[in-house]
Amino acid sequence: MGRFVITIDGPAGSGKSSIAELLSKRDGFVHINSGAFYRSIAFILGDKPTDEELKKLKLDVRIKDGKMIVFYNGERIDDKLQAESIGRIASKIAKLSFVRDFVNSTIRKVAMNGMFVVDGRDCGSVMFKDADLKIYLTASAEERARRRAAQTNEDYDFVLKEIKDRDEQDKNREIAPLVKPYGAFEIDSTKLDIEGVYKRIKSLMGKSD
Ligand code: C5P
Repeated sequence: MGRFVITIDGPAGSGKSSIAELLSKRDGFVHINSGAFYRSIAFILGDKPTDEELKKLKLDVRIKDGKMIVFYNGERIDDKLQAESIGRIASKIAKLSFVRDFVNSTIRKVAMNGMFVVDGRDCGSVMFKDADLKIYLTASAEERARRRAAQTNEDYDFVLKEIKDRDEQDKNREIAPLVKPYGAFEIDSTKLDIEGVYKRIKSLMGKSD
């Protein structure tokens, strides 16, 4: 079997994971959420991981029903990582090159053969420069905060400030900053519902920039 990779990059709360899940359900793609790796490392090793600790870290990544599931010490952790407090630490450690190398090589190994939709910040610009379709998904900070706050039951003003800080960090870091990848199609989801985004992506499949 060959490989077909769609990358979806964009800021926090732009709807990357939701549309990736829909593509997985309807079109048979395996969804790999790269942010979950940064969040897992943040959750387990905190905000000052060392290279040695990371080398010893045994994350057990499984694919079930088109979804990536992460286990650590036999316990499922990928559904415990959504809080902004973990996102903040994830964004901090995502500046470290050894952390980025670990995440990239783990994901590239998982996505060798088959149909994958990978979402994050550098999936089209670094991780899969040769992706078959690259999407850059955006939305206004207010709309993104509204969606995140509804998902995590956190306070809207708190979430808005946190995602603005995280955008700043992610766009201005030295290694693999959040950019619109070369060859990516930009979709603004501020006024577009998930079906609208889905239609747009389906119409782009098979086209390249
Ligand atoms: O996408 P999510 O909000 O779960 O990502 C958490 C953090 O992980 C981001 O703010 C970003 O700093 C980092 N990240 C990254 N590169 C990726 C995915 C996530 O730097 N490909």
